[in-house]
Amino acid sequence: MKLLVSGTDTGIGKTVVTCALLRALHAQGVSVLGMKPVVAGINALGDWDDVEQIRAASTVAAALEDIAPYRLCVAASPHFAAAEEGVTIQKEVILSALDRLERLAEIVVIEGVGGFRVPLSGRLDSADLAQAIAAPLLLVVPLRLGCINHALLTAEAVAVRGLALVGWVANAGIDPDYPRVSETIETISVKIRAPCFGVLPKLAPGQSGADRIAVDRLLAGLRAHQR
Ligand SMILES: Nc1ncnc2c1ncn2[C@@H]1O[C@H](COP(=O)(O)OP(=O)(O)OP(=O)(O)O)[C@@H](O)[C@H]1O
Ligand SMILES: [Mg+2]
Repeated sequence: MKLLVSGTDTGIGKTVVTCALLRALHAQGVSVLGMKPVVAGINALGDWDDVEQIRAASTVAAALEDIAPYRLCVAASPHFAAAEEGVTIQKEVILSALDRLERLAEIVVIEGVGGFRVPLSGRLDSADLAQAIAAPLLLVVPLRLGCINHALLTAEAVAVRGLALVGWVANAGIDPDYPRVSETIETISVKIRAPCFGVLPKLAPGQSGADRIAVDRLLAGLRAHQR
């Protein structure tokens, strides 16, 4: 099985949620692998933060080339970074890598790139890639001013492409002072017609948030989408 973790924006907790999910599934005895098809911005150690976090939370080892087929050095929107590095991002390369990962673990959790419609090249964006991957989608929404609008716009773009929105996770760690948390969760859940599988608080170093994800309900939702 596979699941695509998408977000309403960049920097809103997709990696945090992806890793929490990987660890929550692991705690249920499920073998898991994370994937980050496109990552931009190499760190001082010569690694990519998202990739290292996802690898650490996976229960199975796999080739770096498959976990993260497009590792761009420039920290910029992927189509800028790719163009500057002479790379053309091709969905076929990502789909082949995903296919290999799916043979290694029971569930592959794929972290999307930025928000839902990020250009990857002149001809491909992350919504096209989501369509090609054709996995049920989990949306990460940071609870902050403007998040309802962003969640609704993203859910609309997901639905237009015929993709299944299995549910969403609220990230309350981006703006811990945000008021009306429960009201916002209720509003988004009703309007996007998808269940909220968890609310992540502001996590302290060493905390994964795995215990905040209703993994049983998520697995049931995922299985329902396989049929
Ligand atoms: N609930 C939380 N508690 C504490 N820190 C958080 C929480 N959620 C996100 N962060 C921090 O906010 C930053 C952005 O989160 P994260 O890297 O998961 O975002 P992202 O959506 O994956 O970003 P990108 O689009 O670059 O992949 C990170 O430093 C992360 O540790
Ligand atoms: Mg990330």
